[in-house]
Amino acid sequence: MRVAMIGTGYVGLVSGACFADFGHTVTCVDKDASKIDRLHQNIMPIYEPGLDDLVATNVKDGRLSFATDGAEAIRRADAVFIAVGTPSRRGDGHADLSYVYAAAEEIADLMQGFTVVVTKSTVPVGTGDEIERIIRERRPDADFAVVSNPEFLREGAAIGDFKRPDRVVVGTDNERARAVMAELYRPLNLNETPIMFTGRRTSELIKYAANAFLAMKITFINEVADLCEAVGADVQQVARGIGLDNRIGSKFLHAGPGYGGSCFPKDTLALVRTATDAGSPVRLIETTVAINDARKKAMADRVAEALGGDLKGRTVALLGLTFKPNTDDMRDAPSLDVAPALIARGATVQAFDPEGMEEAAKLLDGVVFKSGPYDAVEGADVVVILTEWNQFRALDLDRVKLLLKQPVMVDLRNVYRPDDMKARGFRYTSIGRPD
Ligand code: UGA
Repeated sequence: MRVAMIGTGYVGLVSGACFADFGHTVTCVDKDASKIDRLHQNIMPIYEPGLDDLVATNVKDGRLSFATDGAEAIRRADAVFIAVGTPSRRGDGHADLSYVYAAAEEIADLMQGFTVVVTKSTVPVGTGDEIERIIRERRPDADFAVVSNPEFLREGAAIGDFKRPDRVVVGTDNERARAVMAELYRPLNLNETPIMFTGRRTSELIKYAANAFLAMKITFINEVADLCEAVGADVQQVARGIGLDNRIGSKFLHAGPGYGGSCFPKDTLALVRTATDAGSPVRLIETTVAINDARKKAMADRVAEALGGDLKGRTVALLGLTFKPNTDDMRDAPSLDVAPALIARGATVQAFDPEGMEEAAKLLDGVVFKSGPYDAVEGADVVVILTEWNQFRALDLDRVKLLLKQPVMVDLRNVYRPDDMKARGFRYTSIGRPD
């Protein structure tokens, strides 16, 4: 199959490289010439484990190419994927669809023969209808079908998620489009991945409902963690105890500083807006959004408490700035709330992150960036683990203790064990576990 992928952001690049690896001929198109230039030199615009090798191999084998001008790729494509950004619109939280619609217009003007137009971007229910209308208006006699095919990729694990997904969801009523999509994903039949065909609106909603459910699950365990602290229970054991029930499942039950990232905050908000507009509010998700926002802000209080309540003149070492490990993505990361709140309370913040510091430097005023975890810890009154990068799981704790002014750790990811930390002489607090 011939594929044109519009947008070389996270989703477009990973999906394009993986489709090429499946054996299809893929052109990834992006208007940003410097990005395409760098991709030609195998420099990835994002940090994703294994992506550079996957891209290099498929480029070498002639299945993957990059272009700023999509004309030729779109003309020849069996399927054109729209994988451009859908950020939250300023002011109202609705998804901003201007890039999606611009891509639809471009596709309309260029496509030839039967073409399947696929939305990979996360788009509100009804967007497929609007794309179809836009294309039909510009090209009344064009032969095409618009399909919804949401992605369920986690940053840091995106290639594995693409190649070994729990399921693939394809929203279309068009038989020919269905055959094209089945062919594109045919290699997955080997792992017996369910490919679920639904109506287009249903498929669009599945994506939002999945992310909202996961965000709600995390928020649930975060509130249970607070309750554990209040009543002297252990949230990790509660999570295991409930997660072993297959109806609940053990994943996404790690309590922490609140969820962040490019998807959950944006998608929960967009679902709330869609549901309100449709006159069918999703109150559980409205509450999830509010609890999570408040939680991220409240993390600075925990740090203050660990130091007796006052942060004036204190130095805080922050380990981890990205919203989760194995990514350089800073979007809606808890650090964007925590660091300014610490500074506002009079603390000096010195921070280290393995991949996120370049981006963090643009977003965090007044933070002193250090070149390694031990540099960050040196001379600090407290060390705070904010993102569970592997290198923070294996710190030389004796060295950390010597470098700190006093042995205080606030572990917002429950990386260490309270009894062990106590035995090592730390004053240690974590999330939802007895100290
Ligand atoms: C999420 C979904 O997991 C993907 O299925 C989906 O495709 C993607 O959004 C998307 O819509 O594009 P991602 O944002 O990359 O993926 O990261 P997650 O691993 O889901 O983590 C999101 C946030 O939740 C992070 O801040 C993480 O620290 C937090 N989290 C996750 C917890 O606090 N506890 C958990 O148990 C799990």
